[in-house]
Amino acid sequence: MKIAGISGSLRQHSTNTGILRAVKKIAADKGHEFTLVDISDIPLYNQDVNEQGIPQAVQNAHDELAVADAIVLACPEYNYSVSGVLKNAIDWFSRVENQGFNGKAVSIMGASPGLGTSRMQYDLRKILVFLNAFVVNKPEVLIGGSGGKFDDQGNLTDEKTLEFLGKAVDALIALADQLKK
Ligand SMILES: Cc1cc2nc3c(=O)[nH]c(=O)nc-3n(C[C@H](O)[C@H](O)[C@H](O)COP(=O)(O)O)c2cc1C
Repeated sequence: MKIAGISGSLRQHSTNTGILRAVKKIAADKGHEFTLVDISDIPLYNQDVNEQGIPQAVQNAHDELAVADAIVLACPEYNYSVSGVLKNAIDWFSRVENQGFNGKAVSIMGASPGLGTSRMQYDLRKILVFLNAFVVNKPEVLIGGSGGKFDDQGNLTDEKTLEFLGKAVDALIALADQLKK
């Protein structure tokens, strides 16, 4: 399977990007390909710009999404919701022909020092309904108390959480398999 991952945090030592690095390793161990899609160059959505065409940075990121069988979105919770950078990227992707979320299996993950992004996750699920994506229901990947589970570089170091992520990757692949039939 080809998995694409997008982080909702542009911070260099982001814990949410750290989740995706851990998923990449877990996926590789299970024989899957993983690509981290870079959304840092995507401009702010502007319909006037959109009417002139899809910006190259959007097209490049969307191309990587479009070839994936399954998608992982790891996003911080900002003010109880989805980070602006991820929402902005999704808004652009939704305007690309044959948008890449359509019919795909998606796993939502998140880390925060508090409750682990539970409020963000329900908003993101709602957005993905409109894009006709199929979000894994269980397990929910809410990494709360992130301070003790990641190192200073944003690498996930907590063994129990890493083990749990393995189960989440299995659930994503199972849903992607089901959707392909
Ligand atoms: C603008 C802003 C809003 C935030 N709002 C929330 C919030 O609503 N809930 C929460 O648990 N953490 C909140 N946080 C803290 C983030 O969860 C924390 O900074 C997290 O580590 C960011 O993810 P990252 O490590 O991937 O960058 C907020 C942080 C920022 C910068």
